[in-house]
Amino acid sequence: MNPLLSRLQPYPFERLRQLHASIALNPAYRPISLGIGEPRHATPQLIKDALTGSLAGLAGYPGTQGEPKLRQTISDWLMRRYALTVDPATQILPVNGSREALFALAQTVIDPTKPNATVICPNPFYQIYEGAALLAGAEPWFVASDAKRNFALDWASVPADVWAKTQLVFVCSPGNPAGAVMDLAEWKMLFDLSDRHGFVIASDECYSEIYFREEAPLGGLQAAAKLGRHDFKNLIAMTSLSKRSNVPGLRSGFVAGDAVIIKPFLLYRTYHGSAMSPIVQAASVAAWADEKHVVANRALYREKFAAVTPMLSAVMDVALPDAGFYLWAAIPAVFKGLDADFSRALFAAYNVVVLPGSYLARDARGSNPGAGRIRMALVAETAECVEAAARIVQFIQSK
Ligand SMILES: Cc1ncc(COP(=O)(O)O)c(C=O)c1O
Repeated sequence: MNPLLSRLQPYPFERLRQLHASIALNPAYRPISLGIGEPRHATPQLIKDALTGSLAGLAGYPGTQGEPKLRQTISDWLMRRYALTVDPATQILPVNGSREALFALAQTVIDPTKPNATVICPNPFYQIYEGAALLAGAEPWFVASDAKRNFALDWASVPADVWAKTQLVFVCSPGNPAGAVMDLAEWKMLFDLSDRHGFVIASDECYSEIYFREEAPLGGLQAAAKLGRHDFKNLIAMTSLSKRSNVPGLRSGFVAGDAVIIKPFLLYRTYHGSAMSPIVQAASVAAWADEKHVVANRALYREKFAAVTPMLSAVMDVALPDAGFYLWAAIPAVFKGLDADFSRALFAAYNVVVLPGSYLARDARGSNPGAGRIRMALVAETAECVEAAARIVQFIQSK
C-alpha cells in the first residue's frame, strides 16, 4: 500500500455523520440540512437536452485535450466574463470537475525529490488541497484567514524559509467557507512571491458566478492580465459548471493558464485517464455558451441570502459574504466557542444540520481558525432555508 494514504484525514462530512450518529432526533421537526455544499437548484433544460442529444458520442474514446469546440467555447466565455485572450490550443484543458483538477495538478507540478516540498493552503480550506499535497509527497503549510479583514489570508505570517521551499500555493477566491474575494493588491503580492521563489499558484474559482456585490469577482487570470502578465506565468485557474450551472453530477470544468504548465499537465492526464466523456463535453459546450441560466441562478441565491442573513445576524455574528453559497458565522459566546457541541445540540433539538467550522480547518501554530464558527450551505429552496434559520434563531434564543 502507498504509505501516504494513511496520512489522509477523515472527510468533514464523515466526521459530521459520526458527531450526529447517536442522537435521538426530535420528531417534531422534519430534517433540514445546511451541511453539504451541494447545489440543489434545478439543472437547466438546455444542458439536459444537450446531454441526451449527444449519445452517439458513447461509441468513441475521447481525447484527453477535449474537442476544439469545447476549448473554443471556454475561451469565448473567458473573453466575455473577464475580457481575457486565452489560447484554446495551448492554455485550456477540460477537467472532470475542479476537485479532480486540484488533485491532479499537485501530482504534476510537485517535485517530491527536492527537500521539504511544501504546499501552502488556506485555513480553513477545501479538504482536497491537503490530500493532494500529501499524496504528491509534499507537506501542507496552513495560512489562517483573518476574520478582522473580511477573512483575507494572513500571508504576512508565512516565514521566509517556508516561501523558499514552497512549490505550490492553493488559493480559493471566492473562498469556501467565508466567501471572500481576493483583490488585485493581494494577487500582485502573490505573483511577486511566485516570481521570487518559483512556485505555481492554483486558483480555485468554482464559486465565481454566485456573488452578492454589483461587481463580479476578480479572477486570477484577470488579475494577472491587469498586471501585464499575459502569459499567466506559473498560474493555473480552475473552475467548473457544478455551482454555476447546477450540475454537480456532470463532473465538468476546465483549467486555464500558463501553457508551460498545461503541457505537462496534459501528459499527466493522458496517463491518468482523465479524458472527459464526449457527452459531457457536448453538454458543457451548451452550458458555457449560455449565460441566461447563470443570471437567473444568481438571482435565486441573492433572494435567498437577503431573506436568511438578517434573521441570523440578529442572533449571531454573521454577514452577507462577497460570494459563494455559504454563511460563515461565529457562534454566540454562551456556547464557549464549541462549534461541534453547537452543531450537535442544534441537530438534537431542531433537526437542522450545520457543519462545525473546526472540521474545515486544521490546528496550526496553536489555533484552529475554524473553531467557534459554523458553516451553513444555503443550497435548498428559500422557504426551507428560511425555516432552518428560524429554528436556529429559536435555538440560540433558548440558551
Ligand atoms: C472550494 C471548492 N473547490 C472545489 C470544489 C469541487 O467542485 P467540483 O469538483 O464540483 O468542481 C468544491 C466543491 O464543493 C469546493 O467547495
